[in-house]
Amino acid sequence: MFSHLLTTIILSIGFRAVTVVAQSATAYCDSTSGICYAGYTDPTLNITVGLVLPPLSTGTTPNATEFVAELIAPASYGWTGLSVGGTMADSLLFTMWPYNGEVIFGPRWTSGYVQPLPYSGPIITMLPDTMVNSTHIKASFRCQNCTTWNGGALGSGDLSGFQLIAYVASDDTPVDDPSNVASNFTEHDQMNFFGLDLSISHSTNYSTYIGTTGTSPSEPTQTEVCGLYLACWSNILTNYGQCGGTGWTGPTVCVTGTDCTEVSPPYYSQCL
Ligand code: HEM
Ligand SMILES: *[C@@H]1O[C@H](CO)[C@@H](O)[C@H](O)[C@H]1NC(C)=O
Ligand SMILES: *[C@@H]1O[C@H](CO)[C@@H](O)[C@H](O)[C@H]1NC(C)=O
Ligand SMILES: *[C@@H]1O[C@H](CO)[C@@H](O)[C@H](O)[C@H]1NC(C)=O
Ligand SMILES: *[C@@H]1O[C@H](CO)[C@@H](O)[C@H](O)[C@H]1NC(C)=O
Ligand SMILES: *[C@@H]1O[C@H](CO)[C@@H](O)[C@H](O)[C@H]1NC(C)=O
Ligand SMILES: *[C@@H]1O[C@H](CO)[C@@H](O)[C@H](O)[C@H]1NC(C)=O
Repeated sequence: MFSHLLTTIILSIGFRAVTVVAQSATAYCDSTSGICYAGYTDPTLNITVGLVLPPLSTGTTPNATEFVAELIAPASYGWTGLSVGGTMADSLLFTMWPYNGEVIFGPRWTSGYVQPLPYSGPIITMLPDTMVNSTHIKASFRCQNCTTWNGGALGSGDLSGFQLIAYVASDDTPVDDPSNVASNFTEHDQMNFFGLDLSISHSTNYSTYIGTTGTSPSEPTQTEVCGLYLACWSNILTNYGQCGGTGWTGPTVCVTGTDCTEVSPPYYSQCL
């Protein structure tokens, strides 16, 4: 099954894997969002993965535990996956597929080579360049509480260290229920890796990317925070998301099965 890993050699020694990766992340800027990432575009699978982290802490303040990332793939894939820890087991995983013009995206986790299930630790905010068009699907997101996860940590705990990043895809088999972010699915038939030197992934522009400074004209606005079991639909709100109220300028469309309900009119409405 490793025949497609042309440039990657994995030697498993007991439970430890020593991985030699030919391709490594380089700096690039996404022309839609303006976000500059450290990442890689796979020329065969047409999958792009980029990560950007906040600057490292210079004092005694703990390092931030978040990053911004994008995952772009052909819209024809049944599903596409990203492993931020580089492995399938004990890693922070994400899955993405299109459904009715929306991007269905969410974090997953598994302890072995079995169906990864939705994972509730990460706090995901989709960024506004998340989209699907006739050829591509793209998830662009802020991930808080994401530098450590059950069984691992980015850079093995060193945020200027090395991180193997993996991406997988099912190139023609759709998931069981594409409308459901928690859907099950069958195994990937495509897989590859790249090496990310985390020391090139920290950006002084990070606060602009997450919209906490008001200096950039193209400043993204956050669209949605996922709840537990995390349906992350671009511009469509899940359960408990705010959808209206005094001064509300955010998204107003609730995911199927919930309605925008006045909770404390006229100040606050949420999807329930
Ligand atoms: C039903 C779902 C899945 C099944 C049955 C499955 C099964 C497997 C199996 C048997 C392998 C080892 C065989 C090989 O190397 O080709 C593997 C490797 C891998 N899988 Fe999955 N997988 C599933 C979903 C996922 C998802 C959702 C992701 C990421 C989002 C993922 C990421 C990986 C990665 C990165 C590897 C290679 C590194 C490693 O062996 O840990 N898998 N998978
Ligand atoms: C990747 O993109 C190239 C160039 O657009 C195209 O010829 C090729 O079919 C694409 N491959 C996949 C798997 O989408
Ligand atoms: C952060 O994620 C971990 C799992 O990785 C989870 O146990 C914890 O509750 C999360 N913390 C917050 C504040 O969400
Ligand atoms: C679809 O999105 C991709 C990725 O952002 C972009 O490169 C491509 O030009 C878009 N295609 C169309 C037809 O808009
Ligand atoms: C932040 O991370 C860097 C890189 O791993 C490390 O050298 C530094 O000590 C960390 N800072 C704090 C306050 O933990
Ligand atoms: C997915 O499969 C698991 C068992 O692996 C099951 O517990 C879960 O209910 C299934 N999810 C859906 C949405 O069918
Ligand atoms: C930060 O943003 C400015 C203005 O868009 C850009 O010129 C610069 O290259 C960016 N720096 C990094 C590290 O991405």
